[in-house]
Amino acid sequence: MQVHISPSMRRITISTSNGFLDPLKIKVAARYLSHRCLFWSILFLAFLLPFIFITTALITLEEVNKCSSMYCLGRKIGPKLHWRSDPTRQSRHVHSIVMQASKSDLPAGENVPESFSEFVAEVEANRYDGKTCILKLKAMLELQEQRTRTAKLQEAVYRHFASSGIPKSMHCLALKLTAEYSSNANARRELPSPELTYRLTDHSFHHFVLATDNVLAASVVVSSVIRNSAQPQKVVFHVVTDKKTYAAMHAWFALNPLPPAIVEVKSLHQFEWLTKDNIPVLEAMENHSDIRRYYHGDHTAGADLNVSPTILASRLQARSPKYISILNHLRIYLPELFPELDKVVFLDDDVVAQKDLSPLFGIDLNGRVNGAVETCRGEDPYVMSKRFKTYFNFSHPLIANHFDPEKCAWAYGMNVFDLQAWRRTDITKTYHYWQKQNLNSNLTLWRLGTLPPALIAFDGYVYPIDSQWHMLGLGYHVKSNLDSVQKAAVIHYNGQAKPWLDIGFSVLRPFWTKYVNYSNEFIRRCNILET
Ligand SMILES: *[C@@H]1O[C@H](CO)[C@@H](O)[C@H](O)[C@H]1NC(C)=O
Ligand SMILES: *[C@@H]1O[C@H](CO)[C@@H](O)[C@H](O)[C@H]1NC(C)=O
Ligand SMILES: *[C@@H]1O[C@H](CO)[C@@H](O)[C@H](O)[C@H]1NC(C)=O
Ligand SMILES: *[C@@H]1O[C@H](CO)[C@@H](O)[C@H](O)[C@H]1NC(C)=O
Repeated sequence: MQVHISPSMRRITISTSNGFLDPLKIKVAARYLSHRCLFWSILFLAFLLPFIFITTALITLEEVNKCSSMYCLGRKIGPKLHWRSDPTRQSRHVHSIVMQASKSDLPAGENVPESFSEFVAEVEANRYDGKTCILKLKAMLELQEQRTRTAKLQEAVYRHFASSGIPKSMHCLALKLTAEYSSNANARRELPSPELTYRLTDHSFHHFVLATDNVLAASVVVSSVIRNSAQPQKVVFHVVTDKKTYAAMHAWFALNPLPPAIVEVKSLHQFEWLTKDNIPVLEAMENHSDIRRYYHGDHTAGADLNVSPTILASRLQARSPKYISILNHLRIYLPELFPELDKVVFLDDDVVAQKDLSPLFGIDLNGRVNGAVETCRGEDPYVMSKRFKTYFNFSHPLIANHFDPEKCAWAYGMNVFDLQAWRRTDITKTYHYWQKQNLNSNLTLWRLGTLPPALIAFDGYVYPIDSQWHMLGLGYHVKSNLDSVQKAAVIHYNGQAKPWLDIGFSVLRPFWTKYVNYSNEFIRRCNILET
């Protein structure tokens, strides 16, 4: 916005992003404004209106500067209004009236003009004095400020719903594939075919594990790994899903085999080990009524205007129901779920492989259990600045007494697990212990579901691998460096903007859609379109 004041102070031109206010109109109106009011209005417009944008920016860039109230701004810009180079009586007077206005408010019930022209009309009708003018303008400013904040908060809430819902087309895919499973014997055929089942437990193959209830995402992960593999004949995929998705997932991989690699599809209920007796803490988490309300309840309640939109967004994300789903916690039971295997690469369903991942199986973890990319240093200052203090409540004595806030965090999403080494440790027990502590403390130790207890449980058992193996953050912001995205072996759309959602970032989506088979009849029939 720009404010131009003619030398005679009889004409004001205000240009906004919406175009120009008619200068003539204001000129005519100005004739009717009392001179006192006009003078103060001009000063206010010229010096305070630009701060509308600053306050809006402050709302967005919270943490950078907490000052977004009029009073605070008045104090901040106060010194500038002194015009130190020209300390006339007039300027002191201006300063004092602005400071006065910043401390008082328009009397309750007074109309706050919606727009500048409305303001001009009102001033014209009522012939306000200088102070009332400033108070009116201040009220307008504050009203806009509040609306911007409300809109930002609304946006965070809508994004949350957009990210936690299942798009219709993907629901359709699951339904159609489930129907195919019951009507087409080929969709039910054994996976992998009987003569290849020996590979499922053979250590000389490269075993990948993926746990998801999203068929389309699974198809992308599996085909991206296999198509980029230098030795696809060695790839064995273990896809774990839940009961409701099993038929669809099985049908997909039965109808879309990727030879020479093999894919196994298993449902949670097919793992004998995974009975509720073995995972009491998770059951308690799913059962606990407070916790159910926390994760499944009304997420917008308690969204007050004082919290910053970014914080609200992260709170909402932390409450995503996926954080208490067993599929999400499954990775901590890998040694028990795959008792015959000694090394696996575990992938999240929001990753895409772009390079041969075979070398991961050759990395010597040096007796450690978990080969992972560390997330406390890297080019992306937001995604790669994670330390223990990012995830834990260090005001809580249980956390403060046990952990180092500066300790580097690492990422889930692509991990090499040495299951043999894991079986010699108490990692799973430690994980359970801390889950229970958090539960007993009413979830005040940490918010986000699976990573924090894993950071504790794997403490001392992590082997840092080169960060080019796993690039994070493609679902957080659109600013991911495209060069690095292209170079990374695995890219990870962690964050809300999943590539299969409408809110996914269009510049980052092609790296994912590249592996969607748009000529597949199920994909076509469900209107999953290349965008
Ligand atoms: C979980 O809920 C079920 C049914 O509501 C109940 O029978 C069971 O005892 C509960 N388990 C725990 C650990 O609270
Ligand atoms: C947890 O919350 C319940 C009520 O919601 C309360 O009775 C209990 O004392 C709280 N426990 C802790 C450790 O704060
Ligand atoms: C962090 O822990 C302190 C001490 O128990 C507690 O008062 C506070 O509410 C916790 N913060 C969060 C965000 O849970
Ligand atoms: C895509 O799907 C069609 C039909 O299911 C299949 O014939 C084709 O081989 C698939 N293409 C790829 C690249 O997987």
